[in-house]
Amino acid sequence: MENKELVIVLDFGGQYNQLIARRVRECNVYCEILPYTVDIGRIKALSPKGIIFTGGPNSVYDESSPHYTEEIFKLGIPILGICYGCQLMAYSLGGVVTPAADNSSSEYGKTQTSYNNSDVLFGGLPENGISWMSHRDYISRVPDGFTVTAKTSVCPVAAMSCPEKKLYGVQFHPEVNHTDNGKAMLKSFLYNVCECKGEWKMESFIDATVAQLREQIGDKGVVLGLSGGVDSSVAAALLSKAVGSQLTCVFVDQGLMRKDEGDFVEETFTRLFDMNFVRINCQDEFLAKLRGVADPESKRKIIGTEFYKIFWDKIRDNYGTGYFAQGTIYPDRIESGKGDAAKIKTHHNQVAIPEDISFEGVIEPLKDLFKDEVREVGEKLGLPHELVWRQPFPGPGLGVRVIGEVTAEKVRILQEADAILRDEMDKCGYAEQMSQFFAVLPGVKTVGVMGDARTYDELVAIRAVTTDDFMTADWAKIPYDILGRVSNRIINEVSHVNRVVYDITSKPPGTVEWE
Ligand code: XMP
Repeated sequence: MENKELVIVLDFGGQYNQLIARRVRECNVYCEILPYTVDIGRIKALSPKGIIFTGGPNSVYDESSPHYTEEIFKLGIPILGICYGCQLMAYSLGGVVTPAADNSSSEYGKTQTSYNNSDVLFGGLPENGISWMSHRDYISRVPDGFTVTAKTSVCPVAAMSCPEKKLYGVQFHPEVNHTDNGKAMLKSFLYNVCECKGEWKMESFIDATVAQLREQIGDKGVVLGLSGGVDSSVAAALLSKAVGSQLTCVFVDQGLMRKDEGDFVEETFTRLFDMNFVRINCQDEFLAKLRGVADPESKRKIIGTEFYKIFWDKIRDNYGTGYFAQGTIYPDRIESGKGDAAKIKTHHNQVAIPEDISFEGVIEPLKDLFKDEVREVGEKLGLPHELVWRQPFPGPGLGVRVIGEVTAEKVRILQEADAILRDEMDKCGYAEQMSQFFAVLPGVKTVGVMGDARTYDELVAIRAVTTDDFMTADWAKIPYDILGRVSNRIINEVSHVNRVVYDITSKPPGTVEWE
């Protein structure tokens, strides 16, 4: 998009860096995260309205701690330093950062803070409030020209500013919800210091992207691998709006999706969108490859290899010219400032294109968006709620939820049980409160009694978790009566299941999936 207002988040390796960028975007200002190793020439060329230095795990005195050329403070571009970023600003400009000799100067968590609300960051906000702190070192003297604008009982400089040079720093984390009015402080920096207008809106993103896609693609074809997940679905919807039937979506249905999911995806895209939709039904091929294989990693490998073989064979023969599109999103391609900053995170959504296929180019229409922004675009383009808010689903699908060898009968049992679970969770309104829930078929047979007869049949396990990021997760405390209904229905309605158990393991030590 031309002339868009840009704010740069300069990444010094802190844990909240993506959150800072999201908060900026929530203020309708476009921003990008760049690693602290970025050349200042690139920053100048981008001509940002403002720069935010993130936190980081280091002390400015560590030999390996990330620094940045002091020239950045002379560009006349407003800078807000957060936590480590604030200390780095103070240190670089001649202030004093005192290393934590003991724990008395450390602050972690919610901290009572008093603000000077004649400062632009805190104008119009209460004089006292909670801020979220996470630091050991502290600034004991601000650089010349700066004034102290907030403090706590142990931290003499909880915020500092030099309005003349448009330089601001906060020791706490305004991006975290626990900081009272944190978002208002960021907003004030963006609007009152950087003079942003807040023009980053999803409607304008869609219009601009559609125009740009039309120009780039011209009258060529474009092919996209559609999985039915959120990212590829939204990319498909956006491309369809741009070039309609020039778009071909290839949907490889390996027969390891949830019950009726393949039909739902086909129905959605053929009914609601103008495109060429190609579905390849290949459950038999996958099951043949998986016959006799019980090891989880081997199964994953086989499913991945077979998937790409079928996918590329189809494309090579039919759609190997024109453009290749994929649903890469912003977090997939952020260069992290952590550790060895030269390393770039593995792009797990970006697939390797076989050498014998030469496309005109690769198109990633969602490459600048965060997940919640992708969902917003999906909703605006008319994708069904169910697709836009879909839970994560592993690439190998039910192949890793049927434990051990995968057979057609086991997949059928699992699909039926999982559909009942979903139905009951939807009916009682619990589905929206869960981060992820599903059924697992452990492949264990147990003894039961049905009517007067002894049974020896399959066990189904229910897994449900709540989590913010899937790195850790709590098992969900689903009320017993709901679990009871799910269990009754599965045993009564799914043939060859005689027992249901609920997984009460958190992550760690468990993982969300069983394989
Ligand atoms: P775990 O089991 O590692 O899962 O706690 C964390 C999240 O990742 C999903 N997951 C996968 N997604 N391919 C994927 O695309 C996979 O092989 C895979 N394994 C796990 C899982 O569903 C959960 O949301």
